[in-house]
Amino acid sequence: MCGIVGYIGTKKASPILINGLLRLEYRGYDSAGIATIEKDGLSIMKDKGRVKNLYNLPGIDDLEGTIGIAHTRWATHGKPSKENSHPHVDNSESFSVVHNGIIENYNELRKFLTDNGYTFYSQTDTEIVPNLIHYYYNKDENDDEQKILRAVKNTCKDLKGSFALEIISKYDKDHMIVVRKDSPLVIGKGDGENYISSDIPAILSFTREFYLLNDLEFALLSRDDIKFYDTDLNPIDKKVQTIEWNAASAEKEGYEDYMLKEIHEQPTAIRETIGAKLDEGTKCTFDELDFTKDYLKGLHKIYLVACGTAMHAGLAGKCMMERLCRIPTEVDIASEFRYRDPIIDDKTLCIFISQSGETADTIAALKLSKQKGAKTLAISNVIGSSITREADYSIYTHAGPEIAVASTKAYTSQVVLLAMLAIYFAETLEESEVEVLNLKKEILELPKKLEETLKCEERIKAFGHRIYQEKDVFFLGRGIDETVARESALKLKEISYIHADSYPAGELKHGPIALIENGITVISIMTDPKLVEKTVSNIQEVITRGAKTLVITNQDVDAKLFDTVIRIPETDSFVSPILSVVPLQLLSYYISKEKGLDVDKPRNLAKSVTVE
Ligand code: F6R
Repeated sequence: MCGIVGYIGTKKASPILINGLLRLEYRGYDSAGIATIEKDGLSIMKDKGRVKNLYNLPGIDDLEGTIGIAHTRWATHGKPSKENSHPHVDNSESFSVVHNGIIENYNELRKFLTDNGYTFYSQTDTEIVPNLIHYYYNKDENDDEQKILRAVKNTCKDLKGSFALEIISKYDKDHMIVVRKDSPLVIGKGDGENYISSDIPAILSFTREFYLLNDLEFALLSRDDIKFYDTDLNPIDKKVQTIEWNAASAEKEGYEDYMLKEIHEQPTAIRETIGAKLDEGTKCTFDELDFTKDYLKGLHKIYLVACGTAMHAGLAGKCMMERLCRIPTEVDIASEFRYRDPIIDDKTLCIFISQSGETADTIAALKLSKQKGAKTLAISNVIGSSITREADYSIYTHAGPEIAVASTKAYTSQVVLLAMLAIYFAETLEESEVEVLNLKKEILELPKKLEETLKCEERIKAFGHRIYQEKDVFFLGRGIDETVARESALKLKEISYIHADSYPAGELKHGPIALIENGITVISIMTDPKLVEKTVSNIQEVITRGAKTLVITNQDVDAKLFDTVIRIPETDSFVSPILSVVPLQLLSYYISKEKGLDVDKPRNLAKSVTVE
């Protein structure tokens, strides 16, 4: 969580920094601030509230500095307030720091610094960092050009936890230092200027060339140079990476909100994710993977590990892996997996799904699996993200930048990529030939069918208008449809703040039906021809008890039975979530709009959960 931006160049830094923060606001938005190096020393401007409030701070327009760091906060330690906002400074106001992550041993370090005469003015874990830098700087008797860098290195050696740090100092008006460990940070290379950001889209309009830092590598930036160092400050070389995304794909392009734009981008996202990997007439190819038939045959288990929406994509992946490859597959929530001592050995394949590639629990679960001897495979939307750098293998969804906090196109892209992965495994294992052929054909038709599905928008909007004041909504499904019910319930609660729950339709009678009363809304998904009749029976049970019903289906159901039926194109039930989730994404969106809420930045949430 939290977004950080940095600039070093020849232009005024403050507008560039604020602009970058506005694009990173999805990562946290309870306070914001910038620090620049001015003629007479460091200037810090910050306050609680949204980034745009920075424009109102007295003196912000007078800043002339061409080096600066900036931060938008999602509070962990200490409530949102001016004092707790970043940037922080040391007691002598010589060093300024912004931080994304959590310093786990901050109490111990705070005590150490307090014992050494330092005073703290905030409740944050971050404030120890500039003071510790100051402590090491003062202790160092060598007065060479690496003195600040050494102080930062010594500080980082003391820190436990996760951090992406930007540091500027009044002692060196021509440099900025950055370092990261388990928190995201990218360096954008410009011409006579360089940029820092928590993610690529925020600075994509300035450059397409990026450097990525590994854990505990340092970068010393000047206007026209960037030097890289390892943990012990030995110089290292880094290759610049060119990013294909264009800046426009990170803008709203006429849509009212990013979420709506991203829902509509799904046909393209799926098309791009399929890319050249899949064709009806040839075997599915993943150049990044080299799994042999013997290795796959020898597997005792596949784990699909992720959080939130990505975990829901994993649930769809499990159905496909087990049916097509006959390999036992378990889906785990990363925050549970890492602490439950899972049974893992070299006959286990662990697959980690993460849109951002920066989710702390998912990364920790990956590290654990590696330690226990499993092969690890990352599925991410962000090239070079932490998870892809840790994993033995990485494959990518090509959904383009996802800005809205609620995930939409990343989810459908993950489901399609998992389907292709299951096909790749099945073809390597020489299993399920007929099912694989059919599935390939269906996957190739998905972009067209998604366009068709999106035509339900007006009817869904009307249904949203009918139910936006409800307090509870229930989602039901069986088999793969139940995974969509879970994802749709999550989406609704996230952005509309309506309590929503999902159940396997057959479970209803075992308890949840007690909640059904007159007028309550029950939404069901029915795309599996083998299960549709069973689900219809369950829905009749709730209709009898007065429920209002919305049905999403590609089957011939008796429309008269239900309040609203949204018909979606038929497809193989393995990939039906890619179509059936769309009307329900739109429903959440329109309910949130009806309620006048901030769709893209729902309360208490952040896009990338880089803390436990
Ligand atoms: C929900 C949502 C979250 C994320 C989860 C994992 O709309 O976006 O549930 O899916 O935080 O994030 P990633 O995929 O970045 O690891």
